[in-house]
Amino acid sequence: MIEVVTVERLKQHVGQTVCVRGWLYNLSSKGKLHFAQVRDGTGIVQCVVFKNNVPPELFEALGHAGQESSITLTGLLREDPRAPGGFEIDVTQGEILQSVQGYPITPKEHGIEYLLEHRHLWLRSRRTWAILRVRDAVITAIRRFFDERGFVCVDSPIFTPNACEGTSTLFEVPYFEQTAYLTQSGQLYAEAAAMALGKVYTFGPTFRAEKSKTRRHLTEFWMLEPEMAYATLEDVMKLAEEMLAYIVAQVLERRRVELGVLERDLSKLERIQAPFPRLSYDEAAKILAEHPESTFKYGDDFGAPDETILSNRFDRPVLVHRYPKEVKAFYMKRDPEDPSKCLCVDVLGSEGVGEIIGGSQREDDLELLLGRIREHQLPESAFQWYLDLRRYGSVPHAGFGLGLERTVAWICGIEHVREAIPFPRTIYRLTP
Ligand code: 4AD
Ligand code: MG
Repeated sequence: MIEVVTVERLKQHVGQTVCVRGWLYNLSSKGKLHFAQVRDGTGIVQCVVFKNNVPPELFEALGHAGQESSITLTGLLREDPRAPGGFEIDVTQGEILQSVQGYPITPKEHGIEYLLEHRHLWLRSRRTWAILRVRDAVITAIRRFFDERGFVCVDSPIFTPNACEGTSTLFEVPYFEQTAYLTQSGQLYAEAAAMALGKVYTFGPTFRAEKSKTRRHLTEFWMLEPEMAYATLEDVMKLAEEMLAYIVAQVLERRRVELGVLERDLSKLERIQAPFPRLSYDEAAKILAEHPESTFKYGDDFGAPDETILSNRFDRPVLVHRYPKEVKAFYMKRDPEDPSKCLCVDVLGSEGVGEIIGGSQREDDLELLLGRIREHQLPESAFQWYLDLRRYGSVPHAGFGLGLERTVAWICGIEHVREAIPFPRTIYRLTP
């Protein structure tokens, strides 16, 4: 029996006859030789097809097979430091399942719109392969991190009756006789779950009907949201920095090849160690006031250029805490030492990527929270269940939300979040 081996496991099979199953990535031929690069999803291996070693039909057919033809090849596996990947297969048998011509994505440069239109095929490119594998490692790291610390994963619903992060970015969906909204955040449900289970996290798709066309915004993105009972802003800041350092360390350990494909500067990632620098909003505002390029006005939220100025000052993510209450959500607890501020934190990624985490301690007082809901003109009736959490055993509690795509884009060193999700949804794009 000849063993089917994935490219990623080839090194355990040197000297054996193996079969690889995949797609033709590249073919170059000279005379009696074809050099076929085969990708199988786990990597790419060079296969040498010498005319005298294979059935004549196979040699002939391979010569006509175009990029992305589906193909299986069998032969002796050799170590060869000159071959891309370090191995080569001397082919003796094979089969072309489908011979393809005219694959739409060639190694030449294509425009971004063309590539997005062909995202279902673009997934097969080396760069996308690397990014998606980093994304996978980030997700696994997140689950490991929280599991090791005793957090319970509790999934929040996607159809919701009310807003969490403000009414201007809600997607409405007809829901029988009512209107439902696609969730903007699982937080309110995570709070309920934290009162039931102590330390929890939700992790799933969230939706924002944002008209923004920036490189940081998607209409559908994945958010990780831990929530802890009996916790404060300080606890959340510590958790956030430990988690980010852990995620980066895991990616460095498990996705070196992929980071290499992306030409990522590893020294920048190796510096991501806790503790991270911290700035209060007031301190950050002072830095911006002194910066010649900033148009920031005290009291405003930071715009993308402000965040870039701030994060460029540090070699690791920076925690900005205690923003003015006017620019933050209704559920955030006020700072007892300065009630004009919230007990909140935004984490700005390094290298100018902007906000990757937003979090806070939550208002745990029933009357104050009810007042906030009224101030923000939110429908009181839809929040009765949430207010119950302050009626029955209210405790200090806190949590945050991490945007998965912004985190992946930051770690990969890519410009735009649309490449950090398999099928991006933006204001102009619903297909494929
Ligand atoms: O700061 P946000 O809006 O916070 C919340 O939703 C809180 N309820 C989270 C919590 O405390 N449980 O969003 C959190 C993160 C942002 O820091 C950003 O990384 C990401 O979600 N994010 C987006 N990512 C891509 N596209 C968008 N349109 C995003 N909006 C937010
Ligand atoms: Mg935010």
